[in-house]
Amino acid sequence: MLKTHSCGALRREHVGQEVTLAGWVNRVRAQGGLVFVDLRDRSGIAQATVDVASAPDAHAAATALGREYVVQIRGIVRARPPEMVNPNLPTGEVEVEITAVTVLNAARTPPFDVSTESKVDEALRLKYRYLDLRRARMQRNIILRAQATKFIRDYLYARGFVEIETPILFKTTPEGARDYLVPSRVHPGKFYALPQSPQQLKQLLMVAGYERYFQIARCFRDEDQRGDRQPEFTQLDMEMSFVEREDVMGLIEGLMTALVEQVSDRELVTKPFPRLTLKEAMARYGTDKPDVRYGLEIRDITDIVGTGGFKVFADNAAEGKPTRALCIPGSGDYSRKQLTELEDMAKAAGGRGLAWMALESGGDGQIKSPIAKFFTVEQLVALTERLDAKPGDLILISSDTPAAVCAVLDALRREFGARLGLADPKQIAFCWVIDFPLFDWNADEERWDPSHHLFTSPMAEDIALLDTEPGKVRGQQYDLACNGYEVAGGSIRIHDRALQEKIFGLIGLDVDDARQRFGHMLEAFEYGTPPHGGIAPGIDRLVMLLAGEPNIREVIAFPKSQQAADLMAGAPSEAEPKQLEELHIRLAEDVKDEA
Ligand code: AMO
Repeated sequence: MLKTHSCGALRREHVGQEVTLAGWVNRVRAQGGLVFVDLRDRSGIAQATVDVASAPDAHAAATALGREYVVQIRGIVRARPPEMVNPNLPTGEVEVEITAVTVLNAARTPPFDVSTESKVDEALRLKYRYLDLRRARMQRNIILRAQATKFIRDYLYARGFVEIETPILFKTTPEGARDYLVPSRVHPGKFYALPQSPQQLKQLLMVAGYERYFQIARCFRDEDQRGDRQPEFTQLDMEMSFVEREDVMGLIEGLMTALVEQVSDRELVTKPFPRLTLKEAMARYGTDKPDVRYGLEIRDITDIVGTGGFKVFADNAAEGKPTRALCIPGSGDYSRKQLTELEDMAKAAGGRGLAWMALESGGDGQIKSPIAKFFTVEQLVALTERLDAKPGDLILISSDTPAAVCAVLDALRREFGARLGLADPKQIAFCWVIDFPLFDWNADEERWDPSHHLFTSPMAEDIALLDTEPGKVRGQQYDLACNGYEVAGGSIRIHDRALQEKIFGLIGLDVDDARQRFGHMLEAFEYGTPPHGGIAPGIDRLVMLLAGEPNIREVIAFPKSQQAADLMAGAPSEAEPKQLEELHIRLAEDVKDEA
């Protein structure tokens, strides 16, 4: 080894020892005849000093160092004089008196300061990701991620799971996104699809008798990017045989609880994890991935205001559309301008508008609102009671289709969760969402779409409804939400060929199409398939939450940009004409030019 100690390991007990350190120059500064070098490696930072009088050669070498040079430093560990002790640094009680400096590799001035947490443009960070990854925050995140995956592996190995790899070059495995396709050289005109998840393969592993499988699996989905989405991301993919919903949920609840409590410094505030049906989640939080760290719940007021004189609410009620509200504590003094901003927010979320009522803070909370005059005193009292509104509060009301009302009030609830500091960043709150409908109606295509994926089993008691009212069939699906993000989705699967074919039919896959795409699954189901189910937590989102980061790019070593590009290597990029020829591909532009 080119070093005897890690920089961050030096303590008082090393005083008097000769050590050799190696790492990056975090900072150099000269003070009179002294040069101070802060040397950094993965373990931390050590301060080294050299005096021109006692070691002129080493002093000259240290003076010539620049930021991010890679150097080896030999010296003696000394106790710092009491007034020089740095209590902010674990190594702050000691320093290394340099006897020799060797430059292992010089460095150009980096495009941004690696030694501080200063804000740097993200495009620049991604272009020089190897420098960005040197920064303390990224080192913490990437190491936390490694610890989390190791913890997960150990937890599952201890419970009889087998880790099995599945192919990346495969056939379409739809999870609702576009596929990434890979052209085949050997089979002209044919393509592999990168898996959107290992869904089919893990089910086939159950047919194959492995009973408990997991994999830290890379998944590929060509979809619009967001802060919590990447074109390639990582799932903890799992499947179990001879289980029911409770078994899978119980295992995951144990794993997630242990993970948060043993690997992160966050506080888990949901023990056990609350369970909500999809209907409850939408009614109380306006979303299928509620942030349950705080209340601020939505209340339905259709019965109170639907019969009043305000036409919008009354007309909507007559058409069966809901009116729902949020009570924002202590915000009754919002100005016109602030209220207009909230209305804009509601419109951006897909609503047509936003009504409000403010309760004056003095006295008995007189209601101030352009629409108050349309209601009787009894109605207004009933409204404030329903919402537990107190003097000084602000009531925000949305009246529209159920989807629009939910979207508006979800957006406002999140906004005020943040504005009022209700969403404590140190806390982690999980909740299960269950009882999803098996299908969603796709009005454009006039057919049923699977609400989870094609292989989710209907509830046994709802199977008869498949023939009569498919929209009422519930799936044996379970989603796990955490702090307002969906962190896992799973289900008990269909393990019967006839039922699987029936579902294919309902979603508009004709028999030939289904056999061509999923014939191997249907055939496998005829060779003795155990009842089985599974789930897939998203590792990126989980680690993001454990690290307290705002997006998953912060916990992925080499993420894609928001435009799905690798800014460091420049991917995607053009292919050589020869490569295209071998792959039997002609680009549309070239074909046009030839014509
Ligand atoms: P699902 O599609 O719900 O289920 O995905 C499971 C989890 O994967 C994460 N996730 C993502 N993370 C980052 N970027 C993305 N683009 C992205 N898409 C999904 C989420 C999500 O909850 N095969 C099923 C699982 C099963 O039924 O067992 C599946 O993939 O955290």
